[in-house]
Amino acid sequence: MISPLQHVTSIGMNRRELLLGSVAVTSLAGIQPANAKTVRYGAAAMKENLRDDPLYREALIKHCDIIVPMNDLKWEALRPAPGTFAFEDADRTIAFARSNGKTVRGHALCWYEALPNWVREIKSAKEAESLLRNHIETVVWNYRGIVPSWDVVNEAIAHDPSKQGIWRDGYWQKTLGERHIEIAFDAAAKTDVKTQLVYNDYDLENTGERETLRRKHTLDLVRRLRDKNIPIHAIGFQAHLYAERTIDEDGLARFARDLKALDVAILVTELDVIDWRIPGSISERDKAAAEHVSRFLNAVSAEAPLDSIVTWGISDRYSWVPEHFKRRDDLANRPLPLDDQFKEKPMLAAIKQFIAKQ
Ligand code: XIL
Repeated sequence: MISPLQHVTSIGMNRRELLLGSVAVTSLAGIQPANAKTVRYGAAAMKENLRDDPLYREALIKHCDIIVPMNDLKWEALRPAPGTFAFEDADRTIAFARSNGKTVRGHALCWYEALPNWVREIKSAKEAESLLRNHIETVVWNYRGIVPSWDVVNEAIAHDPSKQGIWRDGYWQKTLGERHIEIAFDAAAKTDVKTQLVYNDYDLENTGERETLRRKHTLDLVRRLRDKNIPIHAIGFQAHLYAERTIDEDGLARFARDLKALDVAILVTELDVIDWRIPGSISERDKAAAEHVSRFLNAVSAEAPLDSIVTWGISDRYSWVPEHFKRRDDLANRPLPLDDQFKEKPMLAAIKQFIAKQ
């Protein structure tokens, strides 16, 4: 196995130095500088849009403190072949962020999706463990001092644990069992002791048995890692909010209280509003979406200030929502803080207002 240091040396220190030199954003544990008074806002960015759309670049520069490479740090992007790490696209997105004075979050070190096919062919637990460790060590080491917060494990809990058992039946779970979560956090923690280690998941915010169970299993996961002395610093709420569902204010307060007692922070990592089932004119829909976001942000921060808020994109011009949650009336989805012409929507005002009153 190549040690992370050897690996980075072998691909050359120049690109790391370029990234490090591009701006001085300090690497404290987490996004938030220790003395910061405000919650930072940011957005996930796609390399294609960064390359092609000047309005997109301007919007990110104007509104964000944090940029998350939306897809460039996924296995699919980084690992075209065994033994190869393709950092160039992630570097470009990160260099854009840093040269504009933004900090970066990393997404995602261990996920059952966005895996290249060659990974799925590996069936032996021993090989899978060494692959996972080596990947995480190499990537986290490569971006030490550059990426102060990582989604270490993404979506390990089953969509519906009341029917499917606790864990999602994905590649890492099938090959390594729930141990894959410990391996991932352990590898990340040992490689960069300063970076913030986050467990990230969706459907944690609404009422109902399924989401209550998902919160419970998330909490159990934190406790289990703690019992084994494996560091975990925060829970990421993806917060792809379904506008027609009900935010579980009591459930969230309890969850946040339990996390706070464990000294685990909360981040909002992929916020957008899935507006496929809400009726009304555009202005009514935008208002409803903004109110929904406010309700969520208030509920999730009732016990402790949020670490940061990241939306999954910035403009309705580019979003994953229409691909998965298209409206029946064929009107365009409006999931993000800016409309498709980059005009500010009530959702942006809601986020800014929330931040202003922290
Ligand atoms: C999505 C991206 O937005 C798309 O561009 C890509 O094609 C698929 O992945 N939860 C996650 C994200 O953790 O990584 C997903 O991002 C959206 C759902």
